[in-house]
Amino acid sequence: MKIILLGPPGAGKGTQAQFLIDTFAIPQISTGDMLRAAVKAGTELGLKVKSVMESGGLVTDEIIISLVKERITQDDCTNGFLFDGFPRTIPQAEALIEAGVDIEYVLEIYVPDEEIVKRLSGRRVHPASGRIYHIEHNPPQTLGIDDVTGEALIQREDDKEETVRKRLEVYHQQTLPLVDFYQALEKQSATVKFAQINGVGNIDQIKKQLLAVLS
Ligand code: AP5
Ligand code: MG
Repeated sequence: MKIILLGPPGAGKGTQAQFLIDTFAIPQISTGDMLRAAVKAGTELGLKVKSVMESGGLVTDEIIISLVKERITQDDCTNGFLFDGFPRTIPQAEALIEAGVDIEYVLEIYVPDEEIVKRLSGRRVHPASGRIYHIEHNPPQTLGIDDVTGEALIQREDDKEETVRKRLEVYHQQTLPLVDFYQALEKQSATVKFAQINGVGNIDQIKKQLLAVLS
């Protein structure tokens, strides 16, 4: 199964990815998580992308495409994968087609902008695993602590309100055109299916809508 989760920052892509990868036994490929790991490790890639990520802009297509192409050759991808936060521009989507990657489902999680700003201010993450919490909507058992490892949770650098607004603007300009792109592709091709999911509601309700499309 090859799935793309599309949606604005804070739509719940990472949250829903956690159960989808267990259900379908496929890896989550989150370009955002991969880039944050590189920044944290201080690699050459990390140094290149740090400032653009902090400002809420997009990393260049060239960097992202080579990162993803390399990732999907790894052994855990033989039964498919879930893209979370990729593709984010038309050239990234075209690169997938050129590379012969046949996506089966493109699922757009739709959430209005006003809801996003509220959500992201309450997000807390466990950076090593990518586990995601929300101080009100999905709290950890102990405040500030990861349920599984007992390690401290952090707030992402780019979750400041001003940066969130910039990320939303970038989403509308550069990523939203992918909705038309995949709807048009669905009409031409028998293999790719596009579905829009209402991302407002509790996490379980959204999970049910995703499963209804995928089963
Ligand atoms: P990335 O890490 O991909 O961030 P994003 O797309 O902005 O999305 P988020 O991770 O912020 O949101 P999410 O949809 O995963 O929501 P979550 O589940 O956490 O990218 C970061 C940066 O990396 C980019 O800005 C860019 O610089 C760079 N980058 C990455 N990929 C790139 C690419 N392909 N091209 C170029 N640059 C790239 O949920 C959010 C919060 O809401 C959580 O607290 C959660 O608990 C809560 N929540 C979830 N669901 C619900 C619900 N139903 N109700 C209430 N609260 C909920
Ligand atoms: Mg995410």
